[in-house]
Formats: sequence, C-alpha cells, structure tokens
Amino acid sequence: MSTPHNRAENGDFAKTVLMPGDPLRAKFIAETFLEDPRLVTDVRGMYGYTGTYQGRPISVMGSGMGMPSIGIYSYELYTQYGVENIIRIGSAGSYTDKAKLFDVVLATGAYSESNYAVTQSGDTDDIQTPSAALNDALRASAKAAGIPLIEGNIHSSDVFYRQPSDAKPTYWEKLRDEKGCLAVEMESFALFHNARVLGKRAACLLTISDSFVSPEITTAEQRQTSFTAMMKVALGVDAF
Ligand code: ADE
Repeated sequence: MSTPHNRAENGDFAKTVLMPGDPLRAKFIAETFLEDPRLVTDVRGMYGYTGTYQGRPISVMGSGMGMPSIGIYSYELYTQYGVENIIRIGSAGSYTDKAKLFDVVLATGAYSESNYAVTQSGDTDDIQTPSAALNDALRASAKAAGIPLIEGNIHSSDVFYRQPSDAKPTYWEKLRDEKGCLAVEMESFALFHNARVLGKRAACLLTISDSFVSPEITTAEQRQTSFTAMMKVALGVDAF
C-alpha cells in the first residue's frame, strides 16, 4: 500500500535497500549498477528503484538530508514494504586524521545530541548502533574487494551550518575525544534507532568528502573513485 511519501505498492521493494541522501544519486546508482532498474516511487522527487545485482533483487532510494527525512522514509520501508536491511551510503566530514579524504568508513555507532530517539520511543541513549550482522557482511564484502574500511563512531548532527565560535577545544574535537566520533553526517542515528525498535537491520558506509582537520580541495574524479569503492562494498553484501 502506498503512503503519503511513497507511491510504491506491496512487493515493489527488495528486502535490501541502499539509501544515499541524494535522490539523483539513487537514480545514478540504479542506472549504473543495477540490471533492469524499475522506478517504484518518485513522490516529492525522492526516487526509489528496484532491480537486480548479480541476480539478487536490490533497491535503492534517496533518504533526503537529516534525521526527520531518513526517519520517515526508513520507517515506512521497514513497516509498509517488508524491507529488512537498509544500508545508508553517504558522505561525511572527518574529525580526525585517522579518517582521510576518500577513505571509506563503516559506522560502529552513531552519537547524536538529537531528540529523535527519545521522541520516537522514549529511548534516551545518545549512541545508536547498527546491526552487527549487517556490519559483518559489509566487512566480508570489503575484504573480498580488497577495500580497507575505517571503523568507529560517527556523529549524526542536526546542524550543518554552525555559528563560528572561539571555544577551545572545538565542539568537534570534543566529540572526537569524548565520544570517539571519526566523522560527521546527518542521518544514521535515526536510521539505526528505527531499525532497532522495529527489529530490522541497518548499517552505514560513508566516504570522507571533507575534513575539519585538514581542509583540502578535492576533484570530481577523486570523489568518484571513492564513491565507486563504497558502492562495491555495499553491493557485495549477500542479501539476508
Ligand atoms: N556530510 C558530508 N560532509 C558533512 C559535514 N561537514 N557535515 C555534515 N554532514 C556532512
């Protein structure tokens, strides 16, 4: 049954959905990597496609930016469409020289100051965790493809543009040193929370697109190479 945010019908989504933030990236992934991609939803331009990869059904759908957005789409995929696994594939800003530009990060936890979890279910944990089984599958896929993964907590932030501050240490140094956050993005805390309360699986792979430690100019080609590496890892996961 369709929802206010998704016009797909029962059976239109595969059990595993890859979720980039950008719907146009979902379209690109479907058209570049999947066989027989079929558009299943485009409400508000949030494209979702289902096709196959090496014979296995798989879907890809945009999440939009931020926790309210991924919260809506992932909740509906899990509860209305029989989706079991959501793998977020995104980009992140690095808080440490341990995660360098274009490295691929596998999140082992998402810290947030967001109210998403407490509002959604009363859960006051400020770190939400991904599925251990899905993370193991991603590690196995990365190993098979020879792609190194950097593992650690990430920061899911509600705010992209902060007011400048002279505080020392900076907020991001504190998050790095006190919460073990390697990098910042804006969605995984809500995704991991939804998966956990619904008894489903979620994971997050990120490529480092910018750095708070050593700001550098990147080229489109460099970004494309690391994106392709992340896609290989995500697509190489055996569906459950
Ligand atoms: N995604 C990629 N870079 C980011 C940043 N600097 N902050 C939040 N999300 C991001």
